[in-house]
Amino acid sequence: MHECRILFFGDIGGRPGRRFVLSQLPLLRERYKPDFIFANAENATHGFGLNAATAQKLHDAGIDGLTLGNHTWDQKEFWNEIDTLPYVCRPANYPKAPGKMYLVFEHQGEKLAVINLLGRTGIRTALDCPFQTATKLIEALENDGIRNVIVDFHAETTAEKYALGWFLSKKEGVCAVLGTHTHVPTADTRLLNNRTAFVSDIGMCGPHDSVIGCEIDPVIERFVEGKPNRLEVAKGAAVLNAVFIRLDLEQHCALSIERIQRIEESDV
Ligand SMILES: [Fe+2]
Ligand SMILES: [Fe+2]
Repeated sequence: MHECRILFFGDIGGRPGRRFVLSQLPLLRERYKPDFIFANAENATHGFGLNAATAQKLHDAGIDGLTLGNHTWDQKEFWNEIDTLPYVCRPANYPKAPGKMYLVFEHQGEKLAVINLLGRTGIRTALDCPFQTATKLIEALENDGIRNVIVDFHAETTAEKYALGWFLSKKEGVCAVLGTHTHVPTADTRLLNNRTAFVSDIGMCGPHDSVIGCEIDPVIERFVEGKPNRLEVAKGAAVLNAVFIRLDLEQHCALSIERIQRIEESDV
């Protein structure tokens, strides 16, 4: 057996999310002893998108790879910055965009790829089919000798996430399909086909008293009055959601998946 231990954080939201993830990293490292740490960073810069400066801070703190989502281009400069960031990959099913379609890591002679895909149900962006994109990409990686793959499936609906999870779990080498985007963790961690670690949604790392990361009252006013409020990242104590997965890189499968949640003790 060739065990590889991975921590994967859900959407890091703004300053509260970054602050709490970075403050918890030493404790989580000690507890889980991860070989690699990954995070979805689509909300890391002011809650909307990512820029090079924020990405670099997260990477400098020890996060090995960053994935994205529907907010990938919210920070306008990021379209031109992404190709300078070798540890960031964007959704592979954007029809045409700069940035990496996958990341490759090496652990004791075995290679491991991280892929990011966007769902198409309820996400208003022009996208190629995530199922076909994943199939082609995984075949291309296998031809390059990369037979261990983790997928961050950034999607709105549980059904699309389960469909892609079951679809990819039929392929040897898809070690994990991890849902992101809804910012709410789901209690359905499991192995699919005794091979692929799965969760519908990891949940976010961001302000705990919020509406999926945003200030509460402006969102309520949007729903109640239709007032076109600008949404801002909420303040205060944060919640951290992640999964810890153990892979067997020799058998190209997952061994286990475990949910992690931490809540900051008081307002900061
Ligand atoms: Fe998000
Ligand atoms: Fe998202």
